[in-house]
Amino acid sequence: MTEHQNPTPELTDHELSEIRLLIEERTGIHFDASRLRFVSLRVREQMQHKGFARGSDLLRAARRSNVEYEGLLERLLTQETSFFRYPAVYDALRKRVLPELHVKKFWNNPRTLRVWSAGCSTGEEPYSIAITIAETLNSAEAWNIEIMATDVGRQALKIAETGIYNGQRIASVTPDQLALHFTTTPAGCQVRPRIRKMVTFAQMNLASAVYMGRMDLIFCMNVMIYFSEERRRALIQRFYDTLEPGGYLLLGHSESLSKIPVKFQAIVLNECILYRKPAPGDQPQPELVTEGRA
Ligand SMILES: C[S@@+](CC[C@H](N)C(=O)[O-])C[C@H]1O[C@@H](n2cnc3c(N)ncnc32)[C@H](O)[C@@H]1O
Repeated sequence: MTEHQNPTPELTDHELSEIRLLIEERTGIHFDASRLRFVSLRVREQMQHKGFARGSDLLRAARRSNVEYEGLLERLLTQETSFFRYPAVYDALRKRVLPELHVKKFWNNPRTLRVWSAGCSTGEEPYSIAITIAETLNSAEAWNIEIMATDVGRQALKIAETGIYNGQRIASVTPDQLALHFTTTPAGCQVRPRIRKMVTFAQMNLASAVYMGRMDLIFCMNVMIYFSEERRRALIQRFYDTLEPGGYLLLGHSESLSKIPVKFQAIVLNECILYRKPAPGDQPQPELVTEGRA
């Protein structure tokens, strides 16, 4: 792609707000006042990159062409992530969630575990889930483990598919895990095929209702913080409908389901909250259960 030079792109407040609206309508990502500077900077970068002199040129192109739209969107995505981002969540997965699912599914044939990493960015989250499952489930190879990892950003997914990480990106992987689950390549440390084959990556916009099949676990961490209240509600309802009874939803640390009228049971376990979809035959439970330090 040719890089055009345009030293002073013109962008009015109205054009900027139209661009924000376009992105919000299509993805649910809401840029509030605190993120205006970020959007304005990134939009100007994109205008410069594409050689658009005015905001209206970029807007027109993004409305007309998917390629232009995706180029703009890629600039505006926040894709920060890391392996085992919240250790308490992976601890809860190891000690509470997987043992429970193991008992629940023990006699199933085939014994399938379906996980959705919604907003997986460059792949660290779904690979962390896969590693935790491989380390926790007895005879993991006797299970069909299907981790669907989706994101709206194509560039991030390209990195995710390679499974190659360097430097800071693998700082939170222990030396034992590095030795066990990664191989060294000239480009960096690559997740071993045994772990990679548990994960399937796909480009998917959470604002469009795509049927995913039933899931035992859904991770949607640090994605909905950028969504409007209304979109958040709709997505939580969709996650609820997608989960198997007795399945779990895991959110990022600063996210909660308060004010959202969906009947999950919230289990507080050390530093994380697990949202469990009630199952028929459950003993009556309070809506909030504390099992560890709050
Ligand atoms: C901050 S990252 C979080 C990554 C990972 N879940 C974590 O917690 O480390 C947010 C991700 O959500 C994705 N995202 C934002 N809006 C989305 C949408 N409408 N559909 C799918 N993915 C979206 C972004 O591309 C980005 O990769």
